[in-house]
Amino acid sequence: MHPDIPRAVEALKAGLLVAFPTETVYGLGADASSDAALQRLYTTKGRPGTHPVIVHLARAEMLRDWARHVPPEAVHLAHRFWPGPLTLILPRAHHVSDRVTGGQDTVGLRCPAHPLALELLTAFGGGLAAPSANRFGHVSPTTAQHVRQDLGDDVALVLDGGACPVGVESAIVDLSGDEPRLLRPGMLTRNQLEHALGRPLAAPAPQAPRVPGALERHYSPRTPALLVPPEAVEGEARRLLESGAPAAVLARRPAPPWAADWIQAPEDPEGYARGLYAALRDLDERDRALILIEEAPSAPDWDAIRDRLRRAAQGFSR
Ligand code: TXA
Ligand code: MG
Repeated sequence: MHPDIPRAVEALKAGLLVAFPTETVYGLGADASSDAALQRLYTTKGRPGTHPVIVHLARAEMLRDWARHVPPEAVHLAHRFWPGPLTLILPRAHHVSDRVTGGQDTVGLRCPAHPLALELLTAFGGGLAAPSANRFGHVSPTTAQHVRQDLGDDVALVLDGGACPVGVESAIVDLSGDEPRLLRPGMLTRNQLEHALGRPLAAPAPQAPRVPGALERHYSPRTPALLVPPEAVEGEARRLLESGAPAAVLARRPAPPWAADWIQAPEDPEGYARGLYAALRDLDERDRALILIEEAPSAPDWDAIRDRLRRAAQGFSR
């Protein structure tokens, strides 16, 4: 067992917050059955009380403790993809706090694949409410250091499991209605999910349950970010440099010799996703007036990345 687990469990039982690594991003964990712990979670995150959080579980069998109805498709997806980067939205069990569900009749559940997360969940025994361990609206953390930078002393303990191997948040599938809906794309692709379900995933309902980023900018650096087509990145960066306001750049193409704050991202979606949030944080720290981001390819395996880039740049267009 990781030496910090007993202390982490003790803190959680005392209603304190423990950040832990998952395969997607770091989570800020609180005892999901304690209203006091959940209150602390909302205050620390700076998150509106109507915004639901995902309950993390050690094993798929625990679904029945949190959902009042577990449809066969949920059992199937859990069996196929858990532990892994997938969140299921199901009808909530009666005891589940409004602080978890944001007052909705559904609850989000996920069994994460990171060994340290599973150790923590197993030792804790119950469900852990865990949003990404950043302040509300900011870029999600993918290292323990990111968490400490964002939350400092507001978190009792940060379990350090290294850099998150997936890098962007779980896919969210809503199975609480007549047809399955994809509420948030993840690196587990629509194709893989539809193949496992044997039917297509619908878009979020128009009267959607609260989906991340639906209300405002989300996953955003503090520096304004602008998405630009691949063929325009270099020209735009050059123009800004010559105008005396050089931008920071995230692109899949190599930096031209004259560019200073330019991060070259990997060509493959897995590598790109893994490094995305660290790159955005890094570019944010360069204190430029603008971050230029090269648009991602339109292929389906880039869906989650395009979604996060669009949200990072939301509200900034010229
Ligand atoms: O990969 C992940 O899912 C990470 C790691 C830590 O597990 N967690 C994460 O949590 O991304 P968070 O809180 O940053 O985003 C979860 C989103 C919420 O913004 C919310 O919109 C959605 O999940 N969600 C949770 N419960 C829901 C529900 N009952 N109905 C609809 N959406 C829900
Ligand atoms: Mg988040």
